[in-house]
Amino acid sequence: MPHALSDEPAGRTSDPLLLFTPLRIRGVTIRNRIGVSPMCQYLSEDGAPTDWHLVNLGRYAIGGAGIVFGEETAVEPGGRKTYACAGIWDDAHVPLYRRINAFLKTHGAVPAIQLGHSGAKAANHGAQRDWEPITRETALPGMPPWQGIAPSPVPDSPGHSLPREMDRNDIRFVIGAFVEAAKRSLDAGFEIIEIHGAHGYLIHQFLSPLRNLRTDGYGGDREGRMRFALEIAEAVRGAIADDVPLFFRVSAVDGRGGLWDIEDSIALSKELRLHGVDVVDCSSGGISGDSPMPILPRVPGYQVEYARRIRQEAGIATAAVGLITEPHHAERILAEGSADIILLARELMYNADWPAHAAKALNVGNWHDLFPPEFAHRLKRRELVSAMAINQPGGPLRDEDMRLIEST
Ligand SMILES: Cc1cc2nc3c(=O)[nH]c(=O)nc-3n(C[C@H](O)[C@H](O)[C@H](O)COP(=O)(O)O)c2cc1C
Repeated sequence: MPHALSDEPAGRTSDPLLLFTPLRIRGVTIRNRIGVSPMCQYLSEDGAPTDWHLVNLGRYAIGGAGIVFGEETAVEPGGRKTYACAGIWDDAHVPLYRRINAFLKTHGAVPAIQLGHSGAKAANHGAQRDWEPITRETALPGMPPWQGIAPSPVPDSPGHSLPREMDRNDIRFVIGAFVEAAKRSLDAGFEIIEIHGAHGYLIHQFLSPLRNLRTDGYGGDREGRMRFALEIAEAVRGAIADDVPLFFRVSAVDGRGGLWDIEDSIALSKELRLHGVDVVDCSSGGISGDSPMPILPRVPGYQVEYARRIRQEAGIATAAVGLITEPHHAERILAEGSADIILLARELMYNADWPAHAAKALNVGNWHDLFPPEFAHRLKRRELVSAMAINQPGGPLRDEDMRLIEST
């Protein structure tokens, strides 16, 4: 088992299910190994969460998830992709997140934040306009485009404006912004911090030779390109308490035609472990080019192999994500030693109660208890009555059964 993790007794003696065995990482115990993968909502106001976030994230906690990630949260205003992206650059954000996190904890989930910076992927319209870049012509009143920053002046896509190449001061500024955001996150009640190093955003831009053309110590060979990521990990680790788990999301491979490959991610993960990262969250894609590197077909569990290789070859815990929708599949990924945590995104949008339903499908005896007690009580009664009806179809009901039905 990778360091920093420990199994806890599952509260059941007979079945060896891993998905519902609590997991301890540093000082945090997670009730099961199911997490809500980060999902941008584009519904924040000046970076601040709203009632939407309380209700949306709250329903995942009520449905039994162990970890509830919010969304990529910008460490400084310029690190947003759109004006509606989440942020945690201001102390005024803290009480708003604290309210949401208190709710998640009341319902048994561990609140987690993903800290990120968009780099060159700055200044876009929202999801409804397919993230088309904001131009002077298309800008809404009071919302002009802003220039992104990047390791090198390479536009994110043909329509995007040129980002400004970061100098040493910019690098120091962004690392400092990650540190301040991490401190605010703890103040706001988050119990897990993830650094977003994937999907073509700033940290990934430094890692990939397609975007990092620097000739100083932050570019060049793989070691140079990893430096920015490792300095952020080290600075964040140094700023948070020892018992706080630190995750790092990688794009295990660039997108189609990319150059950053799984061997690079294994090398990075070994270093991240030495810099105090506990879990590598294994995603992929976000930077494309014209190399012959293909992308994997989007079949169920298409990124699990990355989680498996990083876990086994870098000796660090991993989270698997990507088209995992079936409880038995999720359990198998853990049982085969491919990952320590299963993250789901779209499946949870479709069914926020997936964890409780998965527990039922896997015959976990106390699956009702993943719901709040008020739900669990009613659902247990309902099940009892259904079972009675099935066992005694049309037959006479005993007085105590009648009383139970009448009180249900
Ligand atoms: C609406 C939506 C928003 C997303 N936002 C983020 C994000 O903020 N950060 C991130 O790392 N990934 C983000 N993703 C990717 C998911 O976390 C996840 O890795 C991906 O959807 C694959 O998992 P799935 O097949 O279970 O949906 C987002 C996905 C969706 C569907």
